[in-house]
Amino acid sequence: MYEHERAFALGLADRAGEIALGLFRSEGLVIRRKADTTFVTQADTTIERTAREQIGAAFPDDRVLGEEEGGSQDPAGRVWIVDPIDGTANYARGIQVWATLIALRVDGHGVLGVVSAPALGERYVAVRGEGATLNGDPIRVSEVDRVADAHVLFQELATLLDGPYAAATNALIQECWRPRGFGDFWAHMLVARGSAEAMLEPQLATWDLAAPQVVIEEAGGRCTTFEGGPLGHENSMLVTNGLLHDEILRRLATR
Ligand code: IPD
Ligand code: CA
Ligand code: CA
Repeated sequence: MYEHERAFALGLADRAGEIALGLFRSEGLVIRRKADTTFVTQADTTIERTAREQIGAAFPDDRVLGEEEGGSQDPAGRVWIVDPIDGTANYARGIQVWATLIALRVDGHGVLGVVSAPALGERYVAVRGEGATLNGDPIRVSEVDRVADAHVLFQELATLLDGPYAAATNALIQECWRPRGFGDFWAHMLVARGSAEAMLEPQLATWDLAAPQVVIEEAGGRCTTFEGGPLGHENSMLVTNGLLHDEILRRLATR
C-alpha cells in the first residue's frame, strides 16, 4: 500500500538531506529566534518550502501541515505533515541528532512515516500494516518487561521534575536500569528499534509526533499521552515498547 507516496516521501527526504547537510556546520548558516524563542535556520525554511512545492506538484489535492508555515489541524482527507528539521537546536549547535520528519495521514490516521537523519546515517520508514525499517532492515521494540531493567529516556527534564509528574519521574529515574536524556525524534526511534524501553515527552506538536508515531507503532511499540489517551497537538507523549506502557501510565497517574 502507498507505494507511490512512500517513494515520493523518500525522494523528498533525499532532497531535504542535501539541503540540510549542505548547510550543517557551515559558517554562513543563518539562525534566527522565533517569537516563541526557539531557533529556526534557513535549512528549516528552505526544506519546508521545497516540501510544499513538491507535494503540491505531486499530490495537488492533498493538504500540508508544517512547522514553519503552519496549516490546518483539521484531520479530514489526506494531509502531509512535515517537520523540516526536528532537533533544530542540535542542528544549530553542530550536533548530528536532527531529522526531517514526513508523515501522511488519511482522515487523521497515520499511514506513512519517514524519519530521515542523514548526519546519523539513519533513515526510519514505516507504512501502516507493513512494519518499520531502519536503513531497509526491519526493526522491533525490545522485550524488556521490568522497569528495573529498562532504559528510560526523558525530554525536557525541567518540565517533568517541576510539575504534576515530578514524583513519578523521580521514582522512574531512581528505579529504572538507566535513565538518559537523549531527546527529539531520536529517543522515539531508540525505543522503536529496541535500544531503549520508554521515552517521556511532556509536550509535542502534531509535526513532532506524526511520523515517529507510525514508525513506533509499526515496530510494535505504543504511544499515548501521559493519561493514556490518543496523541494530540501540544500534548504529552509516552512512548514504550508496549510491555511497560501500563506500568508507566500507572506511575504517572500517582501524584
Ligand atoms: C522540538 C523537538 C523536541 C520537543 C520540542 C520540539 P524542533 O522540535 O521535537 O523533541 O521536545 O517540543 O519543539 O523545534 O527541534 O523541530
Ligand atoms: Ca520538531
Ligand atoms: Ca522543526
